[in-house]
Amino acid sequence: MNTPSSILSAIPRRLHLQPDHPIAITRQLIESRFPGFSYHNEHFPVVTVEQNFDSLGFPADHIGRSRTDTYYLNRETVLRTHTSAHQADTFRANQSAGWLISADVYRRDAIDRSHYPVFHQMEGARTWDRSSLEGGKSLAQTIWDDVAKIPSHDIKVEDPNPTIHSERNPLQESHSAEEIEAIAAHLKRSLEDVVVAIFSAARTAATAAAVDAGGTASEEKPLKVRWVEAYFPFTTPSWELEVEWQGDWLEVLGCGIVKQDLLNNSGVPNRLGWAFGMGLERIAMLLYSIPDIRLFWSTDPRFLTQFDASRPIQRFVPFSKYPACVKDVSFWLPTSSSAAGGHGQNASATTTFGTQGFHENDVMELAREVCGDVVEDVRLVDEFVHPKTGRKSMCYRTNYRALDRTLTNQEMNALHHEFRQQLVQRLGVELR
Ligand code: PHE
Repeated sequence: MNTPSSILSAIPRRLHLQPDHPIAITRQLIESRFPGFSYHNEHFPVVTVEQNFDSLGFPADHIGRSRTDTYYLNRETVLRTHTSAHQADTFRANQSAGWLISADVYRRDAIDRSHYPVFHQMEGARTWDRSSLEGGKSLAQTIWDDVAKIPSHDIKVEDPNPTIHSERNPLQESHSAEEIEAIAAHLKRSLEDVVVAIFSAARTAATAAAVDAGGTASEEKPLKVRWVEAYFPFTTPSWELEVEWQGDWLEVLGCGIVKQDLLNNSGVPNRLGWAFGMGLERIAMLLYSIPDIRLFWSTDPRFLTQFDASRPIQRFVPFSKYPACVKDVSFWLPTSSSAAGGHGQNASATTTFGTQGFHENDVMELAREVCGDVVEDVRLVDEFVHPKTGRKSMCYRTNYRALDRTLTNQEMNALHHEFRQQLVQRLGVELR
C-alpha cells in the first residue's frame, strides 16, 4: 500500500457529479455532443491490476505499473490511473453501441498549477456489429452513413499523416483499410465536434468578459486543431488531438481504433470501433479560464457560486491572488540509492539517474501530505554529485500559496519544517 489518506479522502468528492461544479458542467457539455450514447458516471475508483493494465495489453514492465507512478491498495488492487480501466467490462456488458464513462482517476505525479494527483477523465467508445448490418450494406458504407450524421464545422484541422502507417500507426490484422478509414473519419469528426462546441462556448465567455470590462469583443483568432500520431497499448492506429491555445499546442485527448483482442476477450468479437479518453480539468480550465487546478477542490463559496449549469458559460473571476511564499530544501540522497524519473511532465522529473531508491514523486507526495493544497509548485532547482564522496545532493524549491487567504510566515515556517523532517524520516535523506 502506497496510498496516503489525503488521497483516499478525495474518493467521496466525485466532482464530476456535483451539481453546478465546473467539472460536472464540462462533462454535461461533452455528453450533449454524443446523442444516443449511454452514460456511466458512478464507477468506483478501486479496480484490479487486471482491469487497469492487463486487460488493456500493458506489458509487464510498463512504467505506468510502478509504485512510483500508481497508487496501490495491495498487490492486485489500485486506484484507477485512467478511465480505460472500465473499457473491457463495458464492452462485455454490450449494452449500447456508444457509451461514455466519466470518473475520478489517480496518479502520482509532479506538483504544479496544472497537475494534481486526483483528476477526472471521460472515456468514450463507439462500435459497430459486423453481424447485424442492414439491407446488405457493407460495414464501411454503414459507418460512412453514420459519419454523415455528425454536425459539420468550418474550423481549420491539420491532419497531415495517412490514417494508417505500416510502422508508426499500423492497421490490425483482422481489419480492412476501407473499414478503418471509415471508423477513423467517424472518430475524428465526432471529437472535432466536441472541441468546436467547447471552444465556441469558451470564446463566448471570453467575449462577454471583455464587453463587461468596458472593452469591445476583440478580433478573435480562428480556432486551430491538429491530429498527431500516438501510441497506446490498447488501440492501433492511435492519435492525439491538440488545440492551439495562447500560442501553444495543447494535448486534449488520446484515441484510436480499439484492439480487436480486447473486444474478442470481452466476448464481443463481432464488434469493432473507436475509443477516446480526455482529461476534464484541462478542458474546464480552458473553458472557464481557471488558473490553478487546486481550485476545483475548493469549497470556498467565492469559487463554487461562480458556476451555474443552467446559464451560458461565464469566465471565472479570480478572487484576489494571495502572496506566495517560497522556500528551498536541500538534502543528500541516502548513499545506496539513486533517483529515477517517472512519466512526469516536468523536465526535472524525466531526468533519469538510475532505477531504484529515491523517486521525485515521493517528494511531491510528502509535500501534499504535510502541506495539503497550500503547495502550489515543487521544482528541482539544483542537483550535483560530490566529486569525492560520489553522494548526490538535490535542492527543491517549494512555492506555498493558499487560494483563499494570506499565509503567515510563522505557519509557513512550521509547515516547511515539518516537510523537511518528513523527508528525513520517510525518505532517509540527510538535510544540508
Ligand atoms: N487512457 C488513455 C490515457 O489516459 C487515453 C486513451 C483512451 C487513449 C482511450 C486511447 C483510447 O492517456
